[in-house]
Amino acid sequence: MTKPRVLLTRKWPESVEKAAAELFDVTYNIEDRPMGRAEMRAALEIYDAVLATVTDDVKVGTFTNLKPKARILANYGVGFSHIDIEGARAAGITVTNTPNVLNDCTADLAMTLLMMAARRAGEGEREVRAGKWAGWRPTHMIGTSITGKTLGIIGFGRIGQAMARRAHFGFGMKILAQSRSAVDPTILAETGAVQVDTVEDLLPQCDFVSLHCPGGAANRHLINADRLASMKSTGILVNTARGEVVDEAALVEALKTGLIAGAGLDVFEEEPKVHAGLVECENAVLLPHLGSATRETRVNMGIRALKNIEQFFEGAEPDDKVN
Ligand code: DGY
Repeated sequence: MTKPRVLLTRKWPESVEKAAAELFDVTYNIEDRPMGRAEMRAALEIYDAVLATVTDDVKVGTFTNLKPKARILANYGVGFSHIDIEGARAAGITVTNTPNVLNDCTADLAMTLLMMAARRAGEGEREVRAGKWAGWRPTHMIGTSITGKTLGIIGFGRIGQAMARRAHFGFGMKILAQSRSAVDPTILAETGAVQVDTVEDLLPQCDFVSLHCPGGAANRHLINADRLASMKSTGILVNTARGEVVDEAALVEALKTGLIAGAGLDVFEEEPKVHAGLVECENAVLLPHLGSATRETRVNMGIRALKNIEQFFEGAEPDDKVN
């Protein structure tokens, strides 16, 4: 039996590339560069399956007048706001993602950003590397304490809950959770969280706010100028969700004028471009989309994506179908 022809749009960890080769007739992206719209459309017309990721252009328009050979687009990653899900469905293409395997890893990075922003770790590192450190003194680079403070979590799915556990058990933080649906009371009790109805209810009460909601049109600029203004002036915003959730221009303004004290960002509106104003802000910690970047998690994401296409070619519904 001939193996399905499968394209990996980016370089994957070696062990999962090997596992893919055992199951499928695989084409690799040797140069490991993002695929543009035209390349993506061509790939969907040539291969039986395309294993794409966040850097590929699969937005609205990709599926228009397409004659796809591919019936499955398996995303390497949990977030899929870069994919025109409705367009794929209309073109008869199943889309899958890789949930669960990156919950802890992403929550670890959100906590890293929270701590770095609170303790001015980025600034401190830059000072040391620049040879500008003048030595210890009582008033040098004073940050803010974390223990016992209030953390607001917007989007209380699996990653938001993992963040709540870290904050609650590790730092004795009080947790406020905002989510579209009612959160299971046992989960709230376990994480010591209290659910609030709206983002407006949450923001003014929090010392830290961490975003864990999906991206996409529905949440575009969820954090805008008005909402930033409703945060405490000592507040710190953390975003490991998707860049479009925060209005970056408004955030720059808020950071520069002291409307909020700091931000920790792993995702940006136009990756890999970062708003020039953010780069100027000493009170912003900026990381290059590292949420899921551990050896273990990146392997598990690959295994999960492969499982989805294996299930699909066996005639079953993939576990992680999203459309
Ligand atoms: C994810 O899994 O969503 C990561 O952000 C990479 O896309």
